[in-house]
Amino acid sequence: MSRNVLAVERWTTERTEPTGAVLRWFSVQPAPGGDMGGGRVTIRALVEEVAAALAPSAPGEARREAPRERREARREARDIIAALVDVPRLWSVTHADDAADHVLIARAHAAVERRRRGMPFEYAVGRAAFRHLTLEVDERVLIPRPETEPLVDLVLAATDGGRGLAIDIGTGSGAIALALASEGRFERVVGTDVSSDALLVAAANARRVDGSVARRVEFRQGAYLAPVQGLRARAIVSNPPYISYAEASSLPASVREWEPAVALLSGAGGLAATRAIVDGSAAILEPGGVLALEADSGRAAEAAAIVAADPRYAGVAVHTDLTGRDRFIMATRSTRS
Ligand SMILES: C[S@@+](CC[C@H](N)C(=O)[O-])C[C@H]1O[C@@H](n2cnc3c(N)ncnc32)[C@H](O)[C@@H]1O
Repeated sequence: MSRNVLAVERWTTERTEPTGAVLRWFSVQPAPGGDMGGGRVTIRALVEEVAAALAPSAPGEARREAPRERREARREARDIIAALVDVPRLWSVTHADDAADHVLIARAHAAVERRRRGMPFEYAVGRAAFRHLTLEVDERVLIPRPETEPLVDLVLAATDGGRGLAIDIGTGSGAIALALASEGRFERVVGTDVSSDALLVAAANARRVDGSVARRVEFRQGAYLAPVQGLRARAIVSNPPYISYAEASSLPASVREWEPAVALLSGAGGLAATRAIVDGSAAILEPGGVLALEADSGRAAEAAAIVAADPRYAGVAVHTDLTGRDRFIMATRSTRS
């Protein structure tokens, strides 16, 4: 079998999309002594091509002398292809001699172009992992974070695996709502968001999960608890926006420039959304129902104090995330009104 050795060093075509974004496509050029295999591009060649576009080498640079950034580019190239095919990371190694189809090649090119513009990896490939789910993501929603994953465990543990209704306020991509619906035994899960754009992404993700799960999930648009007035919930969970306006400028550029501000910022002190959710949830939770909130690790004590100061809640506790930082506030709706 012939080995494809490709060098990709120059852009050939440029197109302006309706959104104004400029997409440049690079040509696949045989390297000296390389073999295009009659137009067949292997997965190995595609990895090399993507890696070269991510970290172009100096002319004549030998592969064994490749700097660390070239090795990292190759690792990222494997990650890009794995995400686009929806397979484990090392798939491109075990399938190196398989042919890459045109759709995959075009999607890899587009992902590389987005990465070169500084777009976060998950937006560039359009996918993010959350617990066992693979979710579609784009700039309309926050990229779900691994830090948030234990919040689902806390809700499932506090509700004995779930029953009745669970509500996810500020659902974004639908990550928490869909995880609760697929891992718990809730009869119904309602995800709400003030952003109708985010809810389009959440709805697309609901279509990706098993039909029996999707049938139990519903998304509603509106601020905080407004879309769920009149419901009685066993659990209300939220990863609300919790960055203060003053902190916005010190966020990493990949967050500040790409993720939606409405998903990040919450008033002068970063706790406006938390206050509104704590206040509004008491009227929706059934007695003994569970309130579960994510908070900024630097403000978890302050967030817990907001819940503790409200006599409608009992058993307020702060839980740590996977890095040992205070992150989650749990409480139950007391029987007092
Ligand atoms: C930190 S993101 C969390 C997204 C998702 N739950 C997750 O964990 O990946 C916060 C979400 O709250 C939504 N949001 C912001 N303000 C809101 C409001 N007033 N009412 C409802 N949702 C709001 C944002 O649109 C965003 O989707």
